[in-house]
Amino acid sequence: MPIVDPEIGFTADVIRDPSRFVGRTSLIRDCISALNAATGLISVYGKRGVGKSSLLRQIQQMALGEYALARRAGLAHLIPQRQRTYLTVYYSCDSLIRDGKDLLSRLCNDQNAEDGLLRLVPNDGKEIVEFIRSKEVSGGADLKVINWGAKGVESSKYAKVVPGDTVQTFRNFVDAIVVHQVKGRMKRDGLLIILDEFDVIEDKAGIGSLIKSLTTPEVKFAVCGVGRDLADLIQDHASVERLIEQGVLPVAPMPLAESEGIIHRAAELFGGALKFSPGISGRIAELGQGYPYFVQLIGKQCVNEANTSGTSIIDDAVLDRVIADLKTGRAFPTLESAYQRAIGDSPGRQLLLHLFAEQVTEQSMFTDEIGRVVLKKARQVAEELDVQFIDQLMPRLVEKRYGPVLERVPERQGTYEFVNPVLRQYIRLRSLD
Ligand SMILES: Nc1ncnc2c1ncn2[C@@H]1O[C@H](COP(=O)(O)OP(=O)(O)O)[C@@H](O)[C@H]1O
Ligand SMILES: [Mg+2]
Repeated sequence: MPIVDPEIGFTADVIRDPSRFVGRTSLIRDCISALNAATGLISVYGKRGVGKSSLLRQIQQMALGEYALARRAGLAHLIPQRQRTYLTVYYSCDSLIRDGKDLLSRLCNDQNAEDGLLRLVPNDGKEIVEFIRSKEVSGGADLKVINWGAKGVESSKYAKVVPGDTVQTFRNFVDAIVVHQVKGRMKRDGLLIILDEFDVIEDKAGIGSLIKSLTTPEVKFAVCGVGRDLADLIQDHASVERLIEQGVLPVAPMPLAESEGIIHRAAELFGGALKFSPGISGRIAELGQGYPYFVQLIGKQCVNEANTSGTSIIDDAVLDRVIADLKTGRAFPTLESAYQRAIGDSPGRQLLLHLFAEQVTEQSMFTDEIGRVVLKKARQVAEELDVQFIDQLMPRLVEKRYGPVLERVPERQGTYEFVNPVLRQYIRLRSLD
């Protein structure tokens, strides 16, 4: 049997290629209308591993005029005759960005050749070429820098750097981009600035009003991050209220049928090289619990297992071996090491963590409560099982340097949430030693 590369069908990376993106039809519909509104802010939020960044990359494609995904999703009738098209900037924030000004300064200095803002600032000697982000023939072009020029990156004839005034410098950059690249060179409607991992910015005070003041018919922002609503991303969201009528995009866990779709899509991508027995996609989807990340990981591991056992059919036996390896911590090293770091060699803590992971949320009317776990309940069971010193077991589970696996829910005493819902699902499936 020839070895099959699992990456052909499965990936743990953000999905950039529209032909690998599965489901999410109603979100795509909302993206179409948000992109085609003249002004407005796009906000994407949801839990970790649920598929936010992948959706953002698809928004970027559609902003360039690449609507193959929407057509495949049966939404061709919603694509306007005269689409609004953009040039795009994509930036992932990190926790060293303190506040809004810091963010603008980062944007003005980011030298990413395909996604950065600085790449689009026209400048003597800089060489900028068109390129296509997808494999689709219809793909809309974006711009990338292939040569920053002899004068270095900061000297610019067209956009003035104002020392000590980040906001003005940013405005100058954006104005120059709109005049020379968006309108002049590429004849587009606007510039779309996509900001991923927005939730990690420490001090979000005033960011809403900053974004509002920078938003025009030619400049649109999309912000994305972990959260349950827009307020988690933008604290002063009242200031952007009128901008958000169209672009609010909550990314929920995937329905089972869509998770199965990931396996079907992978089967297509593998062509004849690999087959999946009937029922396998359903089982994997069930294990993934709506988290496409976990579905992709399990799929990938099934391919590895099939390679090892010299078969080209992923059947129940192959999947059972993957699950057996999962239970003993051998299948998914990244999740396993997060798990080990949290329990730290303590059987008591391990048991407690499993009790948390397995807690079922009572059917409640508040969707907010879904996924939350309660110490009191875990404590009761743990005590019945003779686990001692529970209060000494807890701190490691919430301390940053050990993950953390759990996060306190500030407004509710004794209530916690798994930081990474995929890790929670992993713990549910894993055996206690
Ligand atoms: N629509 C989708 N179709 C197929 N796989 C997806 C989809 N969305 C996400 N994934 C997979 O899920 C994983 C996590 O996606 P990502 O977009 O990085 O999530 P988030 O940004 O919410 O953490 C990636 O491995 C990606 O391959
Ligand atoms: Mg992401």
